[in-house]
Amino acid sequence: MLEHDTPPPAVKRNGHLQPPSLGVRLMQRKPVERLIAESSHGEGGSLRRSLGMWQLTMISVGATLGTGIFVVLGEAVPEAGPAIIVSFVIAGVTALFSALSYAELAGAVPVSGSSYSYTYATMGELVAWVCGWCLLLEYGVSVAAVAVGWGEYLNELLDGTIGVTIPDALSAPPGDGGIVNLPALLVVLLAMVLLLGGVRESARANTIMVIIKIAALVMFCVVAYKGVSAGNYTPFMPLGVAGVSAAGTTLFFSYIGFDAASTAGEEAKNPRRDMPRAIVLSLLIVTALYCLVAAVAVGAMPWQDFEGSEAALAGVMKDASGQTFWAVLLSAGAVVAIASVVLTVLYGQTRILFAMSRDGLVPKVFSRVHPRTGALRANTIIVSLFCGTLASVVPLGQLADATSIGTLCAFALVNVAVIVLRRTRPDMPRTFRTPLFPLFPAVGFVLCVWRMVDLDTATWTVFGIWMLVGLVLYFSYGLRRSQLTNLTK
Ligand code: ALA
Repeated sequence: MLEHDTPPPAVKRNGHLQPPSLGVRLMQRKPVERLIAESSHGEGGSLRRSLGMWQLTMISVGATLGTGIFVVLGEAVPEAGPAIIVSFVIAGVTALFSALSYAELAGAVPVSGSSYSYTYATMGELVAWVCGWCLLLEYGVSVAAVAVGWGEYLNELLDGTIGVTIPDALSAPPGDGGIVNLPALLVVLLAMVLLLGGVRESARANTIMVIIKIAALVMFCVVAYKGVSAGNYTPFMPLGVAGVSAAGTTLFFSYIGFDAASTAGEEAKNPRRDMPRAIVLSLLIVTALYCLVAAVAVGAMPWQDFEGSEAALAGVMKDASGQTFWAVLLSAGAVVAIASVVLTVLYGQTRILFAMSRDGLVPKVFSRVHPRTGALRANTIIVSLFCGTLASVVPLGQLADATSIGTLCAFALVNVAVIVLRRTRPDMPRTFRTPLFPLFPAVGFVLCVWRMVDLDTATWTVFGIWMLVGLVLYFSYGLRRSQLTNLTK
């Protein structure tokens, strides 16, 4: 172990041992070896290793493919026109550089905390807390955003099958003309029940759901292709480069989640080998599907018609085939698809809090492992109730933007973490190395910051308030209870 990776020692002043100064404590890094050692000897119990490369890839695809393509696409097409395909590529490239950084760190630091743990090992406790707090936006708040999208497709499905829809009052939050979003709450509770059954069962259910959602999107491409008309692609960029870039920022939401496999480090059978592969593979699968679906969607329906459409892909399918049957089938696929995002993202959130709790930065209840099922029972229930409540009372748009800015901040930090770890621990075993170092992580960092700058003032204000609350919590709770700080006192 190198000297810079050991915790700061207590210093001797006036003959007495004094705890390290505040500045030192905020910057103290958790040694990679300690992170890994604690992952197999946790105080509240250890997680069980049961996930292979296939399940890990399905967790990442499961967490990524959902509301973005089924719902947010409809909001983004009016921003860019047919050039939405380019916007998907731009958002995908932004994600790709960060995915490579995630892959390297997941192979080198195979624990459950994902970027929170990577920043703890490289940039110290305060930055790690900031990152963990951003991850709460990426995972916790995005579960809520995604659950809201689920309700929209559920209504579409009910309308197409039995001709009834849940009234607005019970399927929309107060800001969107309703009182409470019950479907959103329901899907979160369903995911909670699955997770309480244990990771192996949840992963199995997720794999089935992912296969269904990929099949639904392939079916969309095949059926809607009949409606494609070359005229719909011209003009290709009616709203200019600015529109394409703005849509890229909106669509970034659809790539969030590829990093979910990195929260399964302590449940993977061979994390060092499988996690980097799962992250990169899932991103490639998702990007290919997005570009294909977007190309068919804007080819089959004039881009102006996407304005105001809630369940966009179902609408395209209905128009292109002239039959409601296909649209209903697609809505059924979307209902399953989005439920799997809720399941896997909720899973990721519980694992990140598990890691933070083991480090003492959040209460110990989050790291208690159920002795029989190996599930994080209390953690899962608390997180589900939080996300379910949020989903039932806050509108989707506001949630999606807040999610994107938090994710971009976490991704930016991961790109820095790769650079720092290569400099501080050049000889550490790495099963995957991001190519063209340090160019790729540097580009990944710049792209994330650029996308963040593109977000509007309201989103930044929400982010600022969120960070302020996080810092207050850290200084009043986490810093005092930090396991690392207490070790060095
Ligand atoms: N990428 C996830 C989705 O689109 C959050 O639903």
